[in-house]
Parts: sequence; structure tokens; C-alpha cells
Amino acid sequence: MYLNKFKLDGKVAVITGAARGIGFCTADALSEAGAEVILTDLNAEATEASAQKLRDKGRKASAFALDVTDSKAVEATAQKIIKAHGQVDILVNNAGIALSFVPAEVMDDFTWNKVMDVNLNGVFWCCRSFGKHMLERKQGAIVNLGSMSADIVNYPQEQAQYNASKAGVHHLTRSLAAEWAERGVRVNAVAPTYIETEMTKGVHERPPEVLKEWVDSTPMARMGKPEEIASVILFLASDAASLMTGACVAVDGGYTLW
Ligand code: NAI
Repeated sequence: MYLNKFKLDGKVAVITGAARGIGFCTADALSEAGAEVILTDLNAEATEASAQKLRDKGRKASAFALDVTDSKAVEATAQKIIKAHGQVDILVNNAGIALSFVPAEVMDDFTWNKVMDVNLNGVFWCCRSFGKHMLERKQGAIVNLGSMSADIVNYPQEQAQYNASKAGVHHLTRSLAAEWAERGVRVNAVAPTYIETEMTKGVHERPPEVLKEWVDSTPMARMGKPEEIASVILFLASDAASLMTGACVAVDGGYTLW
């Protein structure tokens, strides 16, 4: 009875920024649980190659090019996907960028605006376009990629733009959750620690003290793996989390405890 709640057979899931990293692992996790997954990302070829990797495992997966900062493209793609698949049950707003190591006093407009645009505006455009459809069907689960950076200030790298954008994602998550709870749409977020993906690989080109600081600040004394975020997203997207909405779930090896 309980394990069945994690199953996603018959569900259609859209994941943004799914060509690689946490987004790709999420597509892997949701499709393993039975969902038909639609991977979206900036680069059409890379996204299609990632969808192919899942089809090679016998999963139902397709790809769409989508820049989440383009609200008109988000709406058009949502309509296209809904028309082609009949329904969207799960949306994972994963696309995100960091552009870290920029002290606030010298940050240019581009850096601030770009990070806000992808990390916060993009999440809202997708919630709006797919949420509308979910509300019509009176069912749906949205999982947003927040961050521990919504609650703490990372050290030693300066990244006010990223921290502020993710704090926005957490409160947007709660706001939409409250608006949509009675109408059958759940909205939750995951708040990861440092995860080993392309986003963080630049740390290895920094002085070793940076990675040491990250690890020493984490009770579990390690970074996370994208699969360790995907499994929590699977839980939140599934009926196993049917009473959860507006939660921003720390998946951080204890980082926010200290
Ligand atoms: P990644 O850099 O490996 O993958 C991000 C994906 O998003 C890429 O495929 C990229 O092409 C796509 N993307 C970027 N801009 C886009 C746009 N405008 N429209 C559509 N797609 C776009 O990053 P990673 O680590 O997998 O991160 C995924 C999410 O998890 C992000 O929201 C990130 O902020 C969040 N996160 C990551 C952490 C980490 O340490 N890696 C920690 C906490 C949160």
C-alpha cells in the first residue's frame, strides 16, 4: 500500500534544465517510477541526447528546447506539450544558474538580472503556464529547486544574486502552495547543499580552501550527488507526499544545522 504511493505510472512529468545534472537525474528517477518524462533545456541537441539515454533504458521520454526566461515560449511550449500528451501531472522547475564569486559592490546589471531571470522569473513563468492546466484538472504536483542558499549565506564565495533568487523561489513556493492547495495542486521545493554537478565543478579550479570550507561546514562532511536530490524530488512529486504543500525541504547533509 505504501510503496505504491511512490509509483508514477500514467503520469506525465515536465522537467526544466533536464539535459544534465540534477534535472537529468530527476527525469531518470521519475521515469523509473513509471512517469512519461518530458525533458526541456536550452540546447535542443543535448536535451534530445539525454532523452535518448532514458529511452535506451526502456523509458518514455521526449525532449523540447525551452528557455525558461522567455515567458511566451514557456506558454507556447506548455500548450504544445499539453496538446501532445493530453495532460501534465508533474512539473519540476530545475533550470538554474549561479554566477558565483561576484562581490555585490562590483556586480554588473547583467549578472544580477540574468540570475533572477532564470532562477526566479523562469520558475514563475513555468508555474503559471503549467499550473493553470493543473488547476483546470484539479490535480498536479510542482517541485521547485530552491537551495540552502535561501536560508544561509554561503561562504567564502559572494553570490548575493543567487541567494536572493533562491529565497524568492522558497517564498514563491509557499505563496503558490497557499493559493492552490484547495484546488488540488501541491507546490513544494527542495533545498540542496552543494551538489557535484557542472554548476559546482569550478570549485576544483579555486584554491583548495574553498572546497575545504564547504565540506568543513557540512555535518556530513561531503558534497551531495544529484541522485540524492532526485530521489527527494520523486517523493515530493508522488502521492507519498499527498499532505505536503509549501514545504522547502532541506537536503543538505546537515549544512543548515550549524
Ligand atoms: P547544472 O548547471 O548542471 O544544470 C542546469 C541546467 O539548467 C543545464 O542543463 C542548463 O542548460 C539549464 N539551464 C540554464 N539556464 C536555462 C534556461 N534559461 N532555460 C532552460 N534551461 C536552462 O546545474 P545543477 O547543479 O544540476 O542545478 C540544477 C538546479 O539545482 C538549479 O536550479 C540549481 O540552482 C539548483 N541547486 C544546485 C546546487 C548545486 O550545488 N549544484 C545546490 C542547490 C541548488
